Amino acid sequence: MDFEPQKQLAVTAAEKGARILQSRFGNISRIRKKAAEEIVTEADTESEKAIIAVIRNNFPEHGILSEECGLTKGSSEYRWIIDPLDGTVNFAHQVPIFCISIALSFKGVVVLGVVLNPLTGELFSAVSGEGAQLNGLPIQISSIASVSESLLVTGFPYNVKVIFDPVITRYGNCLKAAQGIRRLGSAALDLCYVACGRFEGFWEQNLKPWDTAAGALIAAEAGGRVTTFSHQSYTVDQIEILATNGHIHQEMVGLLEIKGMSNDE
Ligand code: IPD
Ligand code: CA
Ligand code: CA
Repeated sequence: MDFEPQKQLAVTAAEKGARILQSRFGNISRIRKKAAEEIVTEADTESEKAIIAVIRNNFPEHGILSEECGLTKGSSEYRWIIDPLDGTVNFAHQVPIFCISIALSFKGVVVLGVVLNPLTGELFSAVSGEGAQLNGLPIQISSIASVSESLLVTGFPYNVKVIFDPVITRYGNCLKAAQGIRRLGSAALDLCYVACGRFEGFWEQNLKPWDTAAGALIAAEAGGRVTTFSHQSYTVDQIEILATNGHIHQEMVGLLEIKGMSNDE
């Protein structure tokens, strides 16, 4: 199946959201708390509204799962999975690291993904089976083969205080083994940076489908490996993700394994 028209539509929708985020950057008046540590700004909701309008106008029968509006079931097996602003905390603090993430799934399998950074103009995209691109040019994962030479990236979930011990144990294991670790604050960009070889690996637990749907496909299509921490196949409903260049995957699985401790203690 040719998903090029749907990909172009996802790009158009992302560009509309990006214009809103550009104009709202440094210019937000309301920050609302969704939960203890979780915030939402008018930029999230305005970007989401613009993206959904583009998709609905073109594919009214498709389902939509988006972070702020939740799930609207469609009459078809296609579902758009949208994060209208990934990196909200950065955005609220005027840290220029955030993006829009849009994916399309068919019967639960992601078939295309688009991630757009509105400030740098970097557009990452992939269609299943057709490779990944950055601004239209093919990208691939790095060739580094050991964690000691790797730059890794991770994220801390909003409920990190509740699951502090496993998160910090894994972080400590990787910090001791790697060349370095970054925490950018946007899971979708983290995955795209693995895809284009800036990072060798990314892991995080307790992410949601809209955080990973597009970026995981982009990383896989760039030649990377994407699984759970214990090497099970990754789907957007999994609550943990390990994405690497493949060469360091097994070593990372070992570093993330913590015997005798469950993920939610
Ligand atoms: C968050 C970012 C962050 C990750 C959090 C996510 P949001 O998404 O991706 O990097 O560590 O777990 O929830 O809230 O900015 O869309
Ligand atoms: Ca997100
Ligand atoms: Ca978000």
